[in-house]
Amino acid sequence: MVLLGVNVDHVATIRQARGTSYPDPVEAAICSIRGGADQITIHLREDRRHIQDSDFERMKSSIQVPLNLEMAASEEILKIALNTLPDTATLVPEKREELTTEGGLDVNSSRDHLKEIVSRLTGAGITVSMFIDPDIEQIDATLAVGTNTIELHTGRYCDALDDISASRELERLMVATRYAAKAGMRVCAGHGLNYENTSRVVEALPAVVEYNIGHSIIARSIRVGIERAVHEMKNILEGRV
Ligand code: PXP
Repeated sequence: MVLLGVNVDHVATIRQARGTSYPDPVEAAICSIRGGADQITIHLREDRRHIQDSDFERMKSSIQVPLNLEMAASEEILKIALNTLPDTATLVPEKREELTTEGGLDVNSSRDHLKEIVSRLTGAGITVSMFIDPDIEQIDATLAVGTNTIELHTGRYCDALDDISASRELERLMVATRYAAKAGMRVCAGHGLNYENTSRVVEALPAVVEYNIGHSIIARSIRVGIERAVHEMKNILEGRV
């Protein structure tokens, strides 16, 4: 079974756009679980543009499936994570001016800093995952800093403008997935996946055990509701469509 982590950040994006108390990402998470979500993913950004600290705390006490916190490797967010204790912390790069996470984390260039962050998170019982580009050097660096879980960035494949570039990016993902799986790592993937481009990735990457998908599911839920939008994506992951 391939697991689906539903990222509900963009429910909070709509709320923050108007400063209202609705829609509630925790309610969206509960509906996602009803639709088949195996995990809920949220990104507590340093600029708090969508998910707020209180959402993270309420999420932790309200959902019965694992909670995956995407976070920058910063002291401020680390302290919050150590206090609220998500099941998984996925370390991501973060830039204030970006629209969404751009590119994977450069684990190789910050080995010492990341080693310390990984050790503090794992010491608190939190599984640590690194959001990285499909790059062998980054996979080796992830193992070296003390964790064996990665989330491969699928964005370049999803954003490819033509078939040749899409195939080239998919090939990079295939090579990286095979390499990491052979090294005994837990391989996840995500970013930019939607109802059109996901099945090709799932077929090409049989060793990937979990996908984290947000924007396309929340966008589709405007038409069909969250439960059905999640259910449809689950069907794609399970090869039922
Ligand atoms: N995985 C990671 C590490 C991310 O940063 C994001 C975006 O927050 C996602 C998955 C989900 O990406 P999308 O919203 O494009 O499905």
